[in-house]
Amino acid sequence: MPETESIPQKSIMKLSHLIHGFQLGRSALYFLESQPLPIIRKIFDPSSRNTTGRLGKMDQYSFQLVNQLLKQDALNITEGLYPLTVLELERPAPHFKRLLKIFADAAFMARRRNNKASKAFSRKAKQWLEDLPEYYQRNFHYQTDGYLSKKSAEIYEHQVELLFAGTANAMRRSILRPLKDQFKSHPTGRGLRFLEVACGRGTFTKYLAQAFPEAEIVAMDLSHPYLQVAKDHLRAFPRVSIQQGKAEDLPFKDATFDAVVSVFLFHELPLEVRKQVLAESHRVLKETGLAAMVDSIQMHDDSNFEWALQEFPKSFHEPFYKNYVNHPMEELFSTSGFSQIETGRAFLSKYLTAQK
Ligand SMILES: C[S@@+](CC[C@H](N)C(=O)[O-])C[C@H]1O[C@@H](n2cnc3c(N)ncnc32)[C@H](O)[C@@H]1O
Repeated sequence: MPETESIPQKSIMKLSHLIHGFQLGRSALYFLESQPLPIIRKIFDPSSRNTTGRLGKMDQYSFQLVNQLLKQDALNITEGLYPLTVLELERPAPHFKRLLKIFADAAFMARRRNNKASKAFSRKAKQWLEDLPEYYQRNFHYQTDGYLSKKSAEIYEHQVELLFAGTANAMRRSILRPLKDQFKSHPTGRGLRFLEVACGRGTFTKYLAQAFPEAEIVAMDLSHPYLQVAKDHLRAFPRVSIQQGKAEDLPFKDATFDAVVSVFLFHELPLEVRKQVLAESHRVLKETGLAAMVDSIQMHDDSNFEWALQEFPKSFHEPFYKNYVNHPMEELFSTSGFSQIETGRAFLSKYLTAQK
């Protein structure tokens, strides 16, 4: 009897190791792909020689955190929290074609950085600027067109994976376990309504829809071009509806959603806007609702990475990052009326949940 019981457990562990191994290989690939970027940066932006150059290197401590994150992600999959299909296998040809585009774009990014040109947009991208908040009218990370072109949307996800050694998707998924725990009694999400603010090109939205296939999901962002790409990306998920809008001014009635989620949003907002987003999230949540986020770790979270939190906004155009890392999100959630605030760690990110 114990033998027959131990076989499935063994198989589960084997599958988990396999997924973990696959994820480590994927991470190594992105890490290798990222290595030419500092060289391109140095050629086209001589001022980048003054930064420490430690960003993008993998020391033993970072590797431990990466390994821990990918191991947990593999376990979550084998335990059935979300399906194996979250690990989309990409065909090599489009992957490497996009990588070449990223290398070419890195030269333009470096030039922009050298000239401190944080508000340079193509004519096509400029059409979207009107009606967008002032704090948003910039090239975050000095990326071409900021968030305002299809071209930017098409390379963005890969660029983020290069920045985080192929761990960005696993960091995004780290919030799924707390969400699955909270909604244990609705394993497929039936009867639940979720709002994702700042969905970008819909990377996390898809994971959320895969983890809760019967939930209604509204995905919002300020960027029209990113939302166009998100629509393509989420075509197979009819329960996801996509709309343009501001996270700090939500077009929904009070007490509409069971959860409001955001991934990598708050570090790109001024403090006042962060507070407005939390007030709006609180308003649109049902009485038993949950707010959830994933974003960069902050100053108090890990003394080993304080240097990285200082270095990051010097290398990438992130005008609100310094303020973000110095104002703990736990406190902001608490002063916005949330309770039972819980956090966890996912490499360079933290995830947080809070009850209304
Ligand atoms: C760093 S990206 C993260 C995108 C996506 N969540 C992801 O994980 O890839 C930040 C996103 O926030 C969006 N954004 C910034 N300010 C916003 C606001 N006030 N309301 C809604 N979306 C906003 C941007 O357009 C962009 O798509």
